Amino acid sequence: MRGIVGSIAGAVALIAVGAIGAKTKSPEIHALPSLREQSEIVDGWTEERKALIPGILRKYDIDAWLISQREYAEDTTFWALKDFVQFSARRRTTQLFLASGPGNASTAYSWIDNTAQVWHELKAILADRQPRSIALNTHQELAFSGGLHAGERDAIAAALDQEWEDKFVLEPMLGIELIATMVDSRLGWYRKMMETAWAIIEEGFSSKVIVPNKTTTADVTWWMRERIQALNYTTWFQPGVYILTADDLDHDNPLNSPDHLIRYGDIIHTDFGVTALGLNTDTQHLAYVLRPGETRADIPQGFLEGLRKVNRLQDITRENMKIGVTGNDILKAILAQAHREGIEGKIYCHATGEFGHSAGTVIGMTNLQDGVPVLGDLPLLKNTYYSVELYAEHFVPEKNRTIIFPQEEDVYWNEPTGTWEWVYGQQTEFLLIQPPSSSLVADGPAEL
Ligand SMILES: *[C@@H]1O[C@H](CO)[C@@H](O)[C@H](O)[C@H]1NC(C)=O
Ligand SMILES: *[C@@H]1O[C@H](CO)[C@@H](O)[C@H](O)[C@H]1NC(C)=O
Ligand SMILES: *[C@@H]1O[C@H](CO)[C@@H](O)[C@H](O)[C@H]1NC(C)=O
Ligand SMILES: *[C@@H]1O[C@H](CO)[C@@H](O)[C@H](O)[C@H]1NC(C)=O
Repeated sequence: MRGIVGSIAGAVALIAVGAIGAKTKSPEIHALPSLREQSEIVDGWTEERKALIPGILRKYDIDAWLISQREYAEDTTFWALKDFVQFSARRRTTQLFLASGPGNASTAYSWIDNTAQVWHELKAILADRQPRSIALNTHQELAFSGGLHAGERDAIAAALDQEWEDKFVLEPMLGIELIATMVDSRLGWYRKMMETAWAIIEEGFSSKVIVPNKTTTADVTWWMRERIQALNYTTWFQPGVYILTADDLDHDNPLNSPDHLIRYGDIIHTDFGVTALGLNTDTQHLAYVLRPGETRADIPQGFLEGLRKVNRLQDITRENMKIGVTGNDILKAILAQAHREGIEGKIYCHATGEFGHSAGTVIGMTNLQDGVPVLGDLPLLKNTYYSVELYAEHFVPEKNRTIIFPQEEDVYWNEPTGTWEWVYGQQTEFLLIQPPSSSLVADGPAEL
């Protein structure tokens, strides 16, 4: 973990650095640009994404893709196609994308209308371009390929002639690829957002926010919400703060776990993400609450081994994420290798970025470790972001019981090396909650 070393007790801190190895710099918070600049940045990414559509259609041998919605009843793909200054669809908002055109003919048309004019013009274009297939987003299970509202589908069918209705097809990978694909230019800001998420966790999991035996998990959760808001970011889920050493932690659904006093000697855990610029992050980190007089050297060995074990599981997972393989086959490969290495745990990785739980195959879910129907059968796509989300179990002799060690970090596909890389990093050391300074003995206070 980065940046534990305080600036006040300099001499003591230096000894601590020597004892625990080289430190890299603390993660920093990145302020967002002005809204006007954000608009330019995000619209630039959206234009790059739209330019990919004809290629996606050709890849799946589809000639046309029709997306249509009414204000407030948007197709899921609307959010990945809209301009920064659009807050919802208006009237009837209809888009037609084509795989190719003769010469320089346009491959994208859009309408915002509340009259039958949209259908007349749409039919004229179809008559001119004669697509052999028209994809509609009608999937029964996949949110990203099933966003066409039932009433809107009826409206389309009623407005177009039978000739075109006969050409309606479903190709689930269109919506999935459109939303999953992360153009390169997004990575710079995604990395800054991940660093910001790390920085907020590091600040929240410090003696600035936590006074052991006084602060509760809910106090930290709400501090995090306020901090996100003060930075002009938002989030896509209520941050979670849990005590892994508590006896009543609900491992399968930590959201059910009760509010707890944070005590000396606890391991605390957070599940935390931020949202900005049409991107979402997802991170889980751990901290150890030092007892008065304790230093990093006093963290129980069983805890350190648990963290090392989950770090290994993260690497096994990353290395088994082979492009083109289904999430379910990747899950099997990860669990087989983990078992060979003597690691027990659960794997529940998902695409992220455009949505927090974004489009693409999933690699396990907490309640489905033998495979996930439908979603897990999709192939893993490159040029996407994933959350490597999992836990390892470890028997901790100091506690005489098995404790779970969760971690979550986002990765991006690095095309030149053909590998998944951490967007910002991997937590290899516990964050430390220092006792209040009156009980401070060594190791210096946490950096404020
Ligand atoms: C396509 O556009 C380019 C540049 O705008 C132009 O040079 C070319 O002649 C056009 N081709 C056709 C078939 O219209
Ligand atoms: C925690 O707080 C309780 C009540 O406020 C106190 O009795 C107890 O001694 C405290 N424990 C520690 C370890 O400070
Ligand atoms: C958040 O937005 C307010 C209002 O525009 C601005 O004054 C403030 O500096 C922003 N804070 C950060 C951290 O960007
Ligand atoms: C450890 O836990 C087991 C079962 O929960 C119990 O039988 C045993 O006595 C415990 N050992 C110690 C040293 O407390």
